[in-house]
Amino acid sequence: MANEVQTIGVLTSGGDAPGMNAAIRAVVRQAIAKGKKVKGIKRGYAGLLNEEIIDMDAHSVSEIIQRGGTILQTARCLEFIDPEVQKKGAEICKKHGIDGLVVIGGDGSFKGAQKLAALGINTIGLPGTIDLDIACTEYTIGFDTAVNTAMEAIDKVRDTSTSHERCSIIEVMGRGAGYIALWCGIANGAEDVLLPERYNHDEQALIEHIIEGKRKGKQHHIIINAEGIGHSSSMAKRIEAATGIETRATILGHMQRGGSPTCKDRVYASTMGALAVDLLCEGATNRVVGYRHGEFVDFDIDDALSMTKGIDEYQFEICTSLNVS
Ligand code: ADP
Ligand code: F6P
Repeated sequence: MANEVQTIGVLTSGGDAPGMNAAIRAVVRQAIAKGKKVKGIKRGYAGLLNEEIIDMDAHSVSEIIQRGGTILQTARCLEFIDPEVQKKGAEICKKHGIDGLVVIGGDGSFKGAQKLAALGINTIGLPGTIDLDIACTEYTIGFDTAVNTAMEAIDKVRDTSTSHERCSIIEVMGRGAGYIALWCGIANGAEDVLLPERYNHDEQALIEHIIEGKRKGKQHHIIINAEGIGHSSSMAKRIEAATGIETRATILGHMQRGGSPTCKDRVYASTMGALAVDLLCEGATNRVVGYRHGEFVDFDIDDALSMTKGIDEYQFEICTSLNVS
């Protein structure tokens, strides 16, 4: 087969996500099972440019399936947007014999993968981000763990919020996307959920909702605020001044990116990692793996990057209707 790869490189890029290690492990073990060599590229595209490339064997990925983070480290490498730098990246791959590459990251990382594919390196992207903001897939590596971490933290804030009869604003990650906020809104039964995709900035309506809750005897008011809206601390001050109810802001931050991956993240990341290798062995390139309608599938990266998705309307609706008491 003209395109058959011999040496598969693997890198993680952009924000880390729990389950990335399971994906790396699957790439390495599946590649070895298929008689290929494997090279780990450290620190994303930055490490590629610095030739931080290591040989990997089945043992290199022992004891990592249960670990958060990424053993290969990750980076954001702004210079990789430059076509000359991308050419250098492809040349370095060739110099190290890497003819197939698995890039684990988000949309930004896939753009780098797309460029390397155009420069002759067979490349497959795996969706790795806690944000769930990749349009071609209903699942991204890390989201399940992150949303469970956020949910558990919000339950804890709720306990103290109830004891003190306070309003609590809890800010969750997601960059411009509100998926973590929406899922926690449903899972934690929050009184209000502010999503960048939907928020109308009507703070007066929010204030009236809090006052109405207090009048009905509610002992707390939980507001989940997505990072894409932000400003939780100043919002808390304004709400306290307007309602007379003590209000605290908690920004969950990077704790959402760490921790041992859930079973779902381990299994899906492992499946996707193995599938990426299968695709490379079939001669595929410029593809991204996704999960849709109950199946693991793959798309052309150009098509994947042109897709859009939004917040599920029904889930958004019930996030409000089910949380009224
Ligand atoms: P994510 O992959 O999670 O979306 P970023 O948007 O930070 O995260 O992108 C990760 C990395 O992907 C960037 O630091 C850069 O190295 C690379 N990248 C992003 N955009 C491009 C692009 N247009 N062309 C080439 N590489 C890109
Ligand atoms: O994309 C994952 C993510 O955690 C986003 O939710 C957040 O906006 C961003 O990365 C934070 O990036 P950094 O680790 O650079 O602060």
